[in-house]
Amino acid sequence: MYNLKIITSTVRPGRKGPIIASWIKELAEQTGNFKAEVLDLGEINLPLMNEAVHPILQQYEHEHTKKWSATINEADAFIFVTAEYDYSYPAPLKNALEYLVHEWAYKPAGIVSYSLGPFAGVRALANLKADLLSLKVVSLAESVSIPSLNQFIGEDASFTPNEILHKAADGMLIQLNRWTKGLASIKADV
Ligand SMILES: Cc1cc2nc3c(=O)[nH]c(=O)nc-3n(C[C@H](O)[C@H](O)[C@H](O)COP(=O)(O)O)c2cc1C
Repeated sequence: MYNLKIITSTVRPGRKGPIIASWIKELAEQTGNFKAEVLDLGEINLPLMNEAVHPILQQYEHEHTKKWSATINEADAFIFVTAEYDYSYPAPLKNALEYLVHEWAYKPAGIVSYSLGPFAGVRALANLKADLLSLKVVSLAESVSIPSLNQFIGEDASFTPNEILHKAADGMLIQLNRWTKGLASIKADV
């Protein structure tokens, strides 16, 4: 089984990210291919990147960075669950990415985007994909994009996807397994 880290993007009180993250976690675990963990950036609470030395050197000074490094190092694959803030992905996720370099590399990532509006967070997804490239994260062609988010969230904060979202998630998880397997040999060779 591959170690999958599902990373949310938002930190505001009442954020919806963890609701979606727990849905995709359950689906990932049902495949039997992944041992998944949700990393809620609102709980992890990283300060704005405050390491003195460039992360490529891995000379981490702060305990929060050492912990974040160890957590991301464990991962074989990622799913980023991103909201759309002002047509892009939220700053806490950018900050969390900036803390590390090597820990991200040669690992695949699926993206689940969501927004209140009809565009399903696809502008956040596109910007995130571009930034992942510089960290050598291989982001998949397959993704899940959730439009008008509130239509899928009940009063009890449960998430009820429609058939389209379910199929997209299944397709993304199949590809995530395939790419995790493929990239493992590159990662082992570094
Ligand atoms: C600062 C901010 C900016 C937002 N910008 C957008 C946007 O550009 N497009 C959109 O469809 N929704 C936008 N929204 C609505 C969010 O998609 C919606 O609130 C979503 O639930 C945010 O994710 P979160 O609940 O995990 O914080 C924005 C919300 C906030 C708080």
